[in-house]
Amino acid sequence: MCGIVGYIGTKRAYPILIKGLKRLEYRGYDSAGVAMIGDNGNLNVYKTKGKVDNLTEYCSDKDVTGCVGIAHTRWATHGEPSARNAHPHYSTSRNLAIIHNGIIENYAGIKAKLQANGVTFKSDTDTEVLVQLVEYIMDKKNLSLLEAVQVALHQVIGAYAIAIVDKRDPYQIIAARKQSPLVVGIGDSEFFLGSDASPIIDYTDKVVYLEDGNIAVIRVKSPNGENEDEGLKILSILGEEQELKVKKVDIDLGQIEKGGYSHFMLKEIFEQPECLQNCMRGRINVEGDNVTLSAMIDYRQQLLGAKRIIIVACGTSWHAGLIGKQLFEQLCRIPCEVEYASEFRYRNPVVNKDDVVIAISQSGETADTLAAIQLAKEQGAFIYGICNAIGSSIPRATDTGTYIHVGPEIGVASTKAFTGQVTVLSMLALCLAKERQTISDELYHSMVKELTLIPEKMEQTLKTNEQIERLAPIFTYAKNCLYLGRGYNYPLALEGALKLKEISYIHAEGYPAAEMKHGPIALIDSEMPVFVIATRDRLYEKVISNIQEVRARGGRVTALVTEGDQQIQKFADHVITLPDTLECFQPLIASIPLQLLAYHIAVCKGKDVDRPRNLAKSVTVE
Ligand code: F6R
Repeated sequence: MCGIVGYIGTKRAYPILIKGLKRLEYRGYDSAGVAMIGDNGNLNVYKTKGKVDNLTEYCSDKDVTGCVGIAHTRWATHGEPSARNAHPHYSTSRNLAIIHNGIIENYAGIKAKLQANGVTFKSDTDTEVLVQLVEYIMDKKNLSLLEAVQVALHQVIGAYAIAIVDKRDPYQIIAARKQSPLVVGIGDSEFFLGSDASPIIDYTDKVVYLEDGNIAVIRVKSPNGENEDEGLKILSILGEEQELKVKKVDIDLGQIEKGGYSHFMLKEIFEQPECLQNCMRGRINVEGDNVTLSAMIDYRQQLLGAKRIIIVACGTSWHAGLIGKQLFEQLCRIPCEVEYASEFRYRNPVVNKDDVVIAISQSGETADTLAAIQLAKEQGAFIYGICNAIGSSIPRATDTGTYIHVGPEIGVASTKAFTGQVTVLSMLALCLAKERQTISDELYHSMVKELTLIPEKMEQTLKTNEQIERLAPIFTYAKNCLYLGRGYNYPLALEGALKLKEISYIHAEGYPAAEMKHGPIALIDSEMPVFVIATRDRLYEKVISNIQEVRARGGRVTALVTEGDQQIQKFADHVITLPDTLECFQPLIASIPLQLLAYHIAVCKGKDVDRPRNLAKSVTVE
């Protein structure tokens, strides 16, 4: 949700800012902009609607000099996507420019007061209100930029990660964070800012993750060496100096490049076997029959004492949670509820001290999931995080957790994070089941062994890519699609439908196959593609009956079946064959053809697969 980049040092800021924006485009891409204090001392702000490429084209004949600058790629909240509403925003005097990720909730009241005092506004955004407020305070109270920012931040309610420059002091950037991520990179006489570490890692591996309420004062020496206080200082909002916690980032640059694939999404689908190996590495022993999670060692008592598990998550992570529920109930016999974080946080839920709340999030920054954690914490629950982005806000807000370790996910549609989340949930459920003795040793060891075979079976499943690419054009005409599954395959039906919706813009619904006759069956006709996950499991015969119901109404069935299946071939229009595995691990395998289907259909329709309209990778606003 909006990407922030900043640079201050001895190099030209512009190329660093643009490269950083491209890395962060997954966070939002309805407009982009840069502000640099040029060699002639002017504060130049350039902004365009649309993607970063539009901005670079626009800047091709502009003054892009200067060694200090801030830049932004936007996902609109207040004010339509347009160059006018794009960041950075100037203050009235044009001395200051600001970039912001988040929402200033009380912006309307502040704006009205500023307007009453003669301040005029150029955009519809909440962000411009903040920069105008800072300037107003500076002028009115004769304060420095830092002091004015401190005063202003006391007045605003909401979430923010901000960076501000002042053309009268070109050796300084002031940044601050509350509930929106911000990272400062420390180089050699230079500093970087990013919403995450991806725009920084080309230059340094030393970073400081700002905490909520932190203000960063970043200063470099002027050419005549006048600036005594060069360096990075972290202050609290009250001005108290904070300890500088420098961390080392460990992201492989190759992991965030496309690596020969036409889209990040396709690359990330194909990476899944390796990702799951990384996810299990060091957790499943070399013999492949025992799982150890460090969280289970450190917090054994809290986890084994769980009377109930509550999973909070959004979107795809919520679908992974639905699979987790079945695992915890089936293997561990622990009651489990799965909640949309956005609903949970506002409905005064009953949370007990002996509940374990599991928060699942790829980005680790989803605002609703963070708020749900906060609420559960206040009620005394023990919080366990399952996240991908290292050092992000959710792992820092939880009591313990397990990273999925699938590497940066850049494609907006989540793929490898989903299978990574299901793998961690499977490992956790197996650990708990063993400790609680709710499954036999024999079953436990054989299940762990089967889990280690999943990457190999995924490799085999990826061979369906060509078949799916050939099938995809058949479905591009569709206005609606139905995805059906039962048991562990029901959340997968939801996930398959979500993937198709978000990147191809075809309406799709996931349904438990047997529920169909209670309503959705009325929709079925020969125009409606129906995708059925019909792998061989406990409910196989029942799913066959459900397929017959669809066929009887003229529906066109594409079925995902287990290898060797002879029956479904007879009445499905198309079958995609998958390797056999345990029922509870089937979603790990069957998710691949569903991801590939959505991908190829969207490509056939000419859609921007990695950056679908209206979406952002990291939803840091509620
Ligand atoms: C769908 C998708 C979203 C996210 C959701 C939660 O492909 O990516 O539905 O799953 O926004 O995001 P995280 O997992 O980062 O909390």
